[in-house]
Amino acid sequence: MTARHNKYLNIDDLRNAANRRAHRMVFDYIDGGADDEITLGRNTSAFGAYDLLFKVLTGVKNVDMSTNLLGEKIDIPFFASPAAGHRLFHTHGERGVAKAADQAGTIFSLSTLSSVSIEEIATLTTGPKWFQLYVWKDRGLVKEMMDRAREAGYKALILTVDFPIAGNRERDPRNGFSIPPKVGIKQAWHALKAPAWSLDYVIRPSVKYANLSKETAAVSLQDFVAEQFDAGFNWRDAEWLLGEWNGPAVIKGVVRADDARQAVDLGFNAVMVSNHGGRQLDRSAAPLDVLEPIVDAVGADAEVILDGGVRRGTDILIALALGAKAVGFARPYLYGLAAAGEAGACRAMEILTNELRRDMVLLGTDRVSEINCSHVKRR
Ligand code: FNR
Ligand code: LAC
Repeated sequence: MTARHNKYLNIDDLRNAANRRAHRMVFDYIDGGADDEITLGRNTSAFGAYDLLFKVLTGVKNVDMSTNLLGEKIDIPFFASPAAGHRLFHTHGERGVAKAADQAGTIFSLSTLSSVSIEEIATLTTGPKWFQLYVWKDRGLVKEMMDRAREAGYKALILTVDFPIAGNRERDPRNGFSIPPKVGIKQAWHALKAPAWSLDYVIRPSVKYANLSKETAAVSLQDFVAEQFDAGFNWRDAEWLLGEWNGPAVIKGVVRADDARQAVDLGFNAVMVSNHGGRQLDRSAAPLDVLEPIVDAVGADAEVILDGGVRRGTDILIALALGAKAVGFARPYLYGLAAAGEAGACRAMEILTNELRRDMVLLGTDRVSEINCSHVKRR
């Protein structure tokens, strides 16, 4: 990373820089949410309902931020949640983010809909990797993807369950967004306002779903998902899937204690409390607001991860204090990637690492396992 990226002081600075560099349809695809974006906003504002109660004179000078997730030792209690098509945002794509996660000492999760293949990302870094699965109507393809991920050394499977169909993100049709992008008059006009992104886009290999052997037509995400994904997938199918995978498994996209409990009883080893970053069912509960009942329902039988709305080290403290083992996020590193490629993704990880380190000293705790409910109070 170069020193010039130090000018980005926080995640919001990276967001603004992403907005300046990226094509409008790309920035809006990252930044936007479903319907009126109520849940999108609440995911972050929910943290504002809590106050931190710092302890004084603890003598804490150095902190150890490391923890374990599904048996994997990571240097920081957060990791890169899966996101589709990183090469749309910047030509460094998943390669840049996987390296950023590795450098930060944490897990990179690769989306089913990645723009670099399962195999290439596996060999790029030695850091831990998880593979996120969407369930295709074609069960042969589901099995094939799990086999490829296992073979390539991905340690855990993340089954995303809040995406039977794609949510109603109105920014996308307004911008005429499709994957791969189509270029009409509106897109060409916006391209002129994002010259760096546009030049890259034109001279680099075309962006596609790298894990599919067939080329796909440029259609909206809604149409692609409706055609390809199995909205009928249910608990019985999930049981079948766990048997096929036969390894550490995470269920992603749960906001109810009863669903979390059922998942753990079925054999999932971790629950990601998430509403897909407010991109699916608007007015669904913010992960932070449902974290405690889920932590209670799951108990010691599985690990609970909060995913959604994290933008500050203090957000991470609050999630850990309320019982999360770790947090995941996507937009923070995607803004970094869209702003400045791999260096921007690294800067996002660095900003949150530095914030958390400072915040832990100020809170008076030198290790992650010591952060508990005494450190937080709902206002
Ligand atoms: C996502 N997310 C996502 N989740 C998933 O399981 N598979 C995927 O392919 C994607 N794709 C995706 C693309 C983009 C552009 C975004 C912003 C998000 C959801 C992601 O993993 C995560 O749940 C949310 O983004 C969390 O909210 P924050 O951290 O972005 O606020
Ligand atoms: C999204 C998908 C692809 O949120 O997960 O855009």
